Amino acid sequence: MKNIIAVVNQKGGVGKTTTVLNLAAAFAKRRQKVLVLDLDPQGNSTTGCGIEKNQIKTSIYDVLINKVDINNAILHIEKASFDIIPANRNLSGAEIELVDLNKRELKLKNSLALLKKQYDIILLDCPPSLSLLTLNGLIAANYILVPIQCEYYALEGLTDLLNTIELLKSGLNPHIKLLGIVRTMFDQRNNLALQVSQQLFTHFSKKMCNTFIPRNVRLAEAPSFGLPGVIFDNQASGSIAYMALAKELLKRLNV
Ligand SMILES: Nc1ncnc2c1ncn2[C@@H]1O[C@H](COP(=O)(O)OP(=O)(O)OP(=O)(O)O)[C@@H](O)[C@H]1O
Ligand SMILES: [Mg+2]
Repeated sequence: MKNIIAVVNQKGGVGKTTTVLNLAAAFAKRRQKVLVLDLDPQGNSTTGCGIEKNQIKTSIYDVLINKVDINNAILHIEKASFDIIPANRNLSGAEIELVDLNKRELKLKNSLALLKKQYDIILLDCPPSLSLLTLNGLIAANYILVPIQCEYYALEGLTDLLNTIELLKSGLNPHIKLLGIVRTMFDQRNNLALQVSQQLFTHFSKKMCNTFIPRNVRLAEAPSFGLPGVIFDNQASGSIAYMALAKELLKRLNV
């Protein structure tokens, strides 16, 4: 499958999970077959689409560590019309258990190769670190999408991440491409945010998504209803922005 997008930023709380769930639902509204893969032991994208973490029978942990068939870990989210492979706290152990395994950084890539169902787009929700789990995501993916909050330290973290991508390109994943950098929780009335945004466009020009996601409380409320914002309230400014972002990204992907 050619559109495997890792949503990464080692900084916490920048909107990775919100971006994954809303893009998944937005792509599905545009008739794409979408799979979300929760690679974060926090399991936020799992609970964010209404799955009780305690009720999960088969999670990504079982696939990566217990050699369970990946096809048996897929759940369908009826209301948002996409599939998800869930995660729970078990996954935090995977970080340590993977270390002892042969080809530990290729586990996810090899598992995804066994998917029977065809997907147009697979979104990987990565944890806030450049850990072995994230590395598995970056090696399985062919695109990365970086949500970024336009604040003072944003650019520093981004440089580390882009260095990691360069390393991957020259070794473990020569095909990986930066799909885009998307500004999240953006407040146009905030001078610092505007300055950082300008700097980002200066450094990364075409890699910057033109669409930004505004700070919008409806997006933050949606997960407690077990729904992505674009399904919970499709008229909210954040939802409208995610629909526009989905359109922009599909163009970039040539879909
Ligand atoms: N555009 C937005 N407007 C308002 N709140 C938002 C927006 N995007 C995300 N949030 C809220 O900000 C918090 C962090 O977002 P989110 O969980 O998506 O970030 P994350 O990068 O996945 O975090 P982590 O690094 O812990 O996985 C959440 O409470 C979320 O609901
Ligand atoms: Mg998250």
